[in-house]
Amino acid sequence: MNRRIFIKNSCMAACACVGFSTLSLMQSCEDNTAYNQNTDINSDNDIRVSVDISQDPHQNLQVVGGTSVLGPNDIDSKGLLLIRSSESNIKAFSRRCTHSSYSVNGFNSQGLALCSSGHGGSFNTSGNVSAGPPSASLSSYNTSFLNNILAISK
Ligand code: FES
Repeated sequence: MNRRIFIKNSCMAACACVGFSTLSLMQSCEDNTAYNQNTDINSDNDIRVSVDISQDPHQNLQVVGGTSVLGPNDIDSKGLLLIRSSESNIKAFSRRCTHSSYSVNGFNSQGLALCSSGHGGSFNTSGNVSAGPPSASLSSYNTSFLNNILAISK
């Protein structure tokens, strides 16, 4: 093997390792979102999921504009998108895409939640369609927020 081929092969192997590591890190962040939530069901069968935003992985919600996600839970089988819309309010949207029910990923740095289907759909931080094919906004849930505890109810 000459020197040029060795360097080329080494660079390709290094790029593959970096790509795999990044993918693994992103996947582990996604997996973490299924945890750190509690579910209560009261005597009227109302379901309430609560999240402590002072704890990982939801600490981004401590500042206005911060976002987080929850995995599948008793409120929504696809999970929830969370966004701190003001000092006193955190909004919760379903991660079920309104086009064909694929899961919607968490908000990116541009404030868009992209559908995982590959169809091209995306939603803004108000839950409204940003790019088709979906034609309807994401479903939203009632929330209340007190002393770092976010409660989402159905
Ligand atoms: S299912 Fe989301 S864009 Fe098609």
